[in-house]
Amino acid sequence: MAPVTSITANVNAQLSDALTAALPGTVGDALLRRSDRADFQANGILALAKKAKANPRELAAQVVSRITTGDVIKDIEVSGPGFLNVTITDKAITGNLAQRYADPDRLGVPRKDGAGVTVIDYAQPNVAKEMHVGHLRSAVIGDALRGMLDFTGEKTIGRHHIGDWGTQFGMLIQYLIENPGELAPASEVDGEQAMSNLNRVYKASRAVFDSDDGFKERARKRVVALQSGDKETLDLWQQFVDESKVYFYSVFEKLDMEVRDDEIVGESAYNDLMPQTARLLEESGVAVRSEGALVVFFDDIRGKDDQPVPLIVQKADGGFGYAASDLTAIRNRVVDLHATTLLYVVDVRQSLHFKMVFETARRAGWLGDEVTAHNMGYGTVLGADGKPFKTREGETVKLEDLLDEAVQRAAEVVREKAQDLTEDEIQERAAQVGIGAVKYADLSTSPNRDYKFDLDQMVSLNGDTSVYLQYAYARIQSILRKAGAVRPSAHPELELAPAERALGLHLDAFGDTVFEAAAEYAPHKLAAYLYQLASLYTSFYDQCPVLKADTTDQTENRLFLCDLTARTLHQGMALLGIRTPARL
Ligand code: ARG
Repeated sequence: MAPVTSITANVNAQLSDALTAALPGTVGDALLRRSDRADFQANGILALAKKAKANPRELAAQVVSRITTGDVIKDIEVSGPGFLNVTITDKAITGNLAQRYADPDRLGVPRKDGAGVTVIDYAQPNVAKEMHVGHLRSAVIGDALRGMLDFTGEKTIGRHHIGDWGTQFGMLIQYLIENPGELAPASEVDGEQAMSNLNRVYKASRAVFDSDDGFKERARKRVVALQSGDKETLDLWQQFVDESKVYFYSVFEKLDMEVRDDEIVGESAYNDLMPQTARLLEESGVAVRSEGALVVFFDDIRGKDDQPVPLIVQKADGGFGYAASDLTAIRNRVVDLHATTLLYVVDVRQSLHFKMVFETARRAGWLGDEVTAHNMGYGTVLGADGKPFKTREGETVKLEDLLDEAVQRAAEVVREKAQDLTEDEIQERAAQVGIGAVKYADLSTSPNRDYKFDLDQMVSLNGDTSVYLQYAYARIQSILRKAGAVRPSAHPELELAPAERALGLHLDAFGDTVFEAAAEYAPHKLAAYLYQLASLYTSFYDQCPVLKADTTDQTENRLFLCDLTARTLHQGMALLGIRTPARL
């Protein structure tokens, strides 16, 4: 199916050509905006005229004289100090949408030329630890970015850089050696049991570690055994990892998110190459020895008392840490995975870490100009009181409890509205509505901002929520069912009402919006688009009778607008990782 050029892009190109002809030598962008006065307003002429020392109104008039009206542009006129108001023909709107409708998979949205490879690091919980609300953001945002990037044609490779290495494993493994049988084999437990076992072992081993110096010493030796690859020690470490994965998978499943085993590549995966990373950095002089440790200094990164804060590649005792694994991972992602973009969806509190890691990799030549590295640092999830989200007892909230509660609240909402749903169907919808609500609340705010976790607001039927969008979708499906034998069909010859035009132009902008949101790593722009789509649909539905329209042609054309709205909602929500049940 041939890709469809959006009306915005089409008009923009026409205006830019006319501008270049009117002002030879300039490459002008007309800067098209949706407007209340006409369909679009172009307001890029002022700046261009200023630069060329031309009169903006005159330049605008010259552009107008070079535009052929008729097929796409119905009317174009100069307004204000040098804006252009553009009105589109009804035929072009319906015609463009008909082409989109004929391509149910992509709605006419093209794939970008010269797509690159983005390695996206997201959903990275830590072994033997409960997932919390911070891990939720990384998973939800990362999954949505990945959906959007894939849709534009970018190749994405996921990396779940789980925390599966470190000195804490000495204590855990030593405890297991002294208390065998405390962890059941991973194959015998479900997610909940796995986590409760891990929690118990963690607490118990911590208690002995803090109170028993002999154990502390044995745990320390166990770290050395782990690092030197002792077989028995590694086997037990693997048991912790496997057990944790059972738990991770259960949470990701609850989150309705696909996670592939071959993309779970944790810190430990880079162990073998970390000594080489250190050696290369030391040999090239990028890293230097300081008090026994191997570190990298930066001019502009200073802490208290203006002391430089270094990135520690290797500790004085020879151990490698978080930075060494990230540096080694960069080499792997660039050289072996051929990444052109490295995207990290990690809490903004780690932004300094990434700044130092990226700069080090640049100095070492591992990150060339052709590779972009970006940490999409996200803000904190706050409780209703505006403080970081905690339980009443002041503990961090377990991700699972939170998801369960969201689903439970959603069940109340679904049950209240449910007319012809069985109890099983209510439960199934409740999961789709509840998890959708959690994801949407996260994705509809700009990622770098904090947001309040407020379940009442999240599952509300009014306002900017996923439930509102899901209901809009389900209502359309119900109209399509009621239409019976009358099928949606485009009639470009029909005149459109203002509400149809507004809805139509917005529908046509879906692809442009996804591209912009993907390029800016801004899922909230897609969410805002979808919310506006549902609002425009509501106005259309209020103002334009569908099944009781004047003629059958008009009913068919309106059903076509309904169906394309539904498909666009469905596609857009799917990119964000949110379901659109056909009945609610
Ligand atoms: N596991 C880490 C945490 O929970 C996040 C890992 C982020 N990714 C990375 N490549 N460092 O804080």
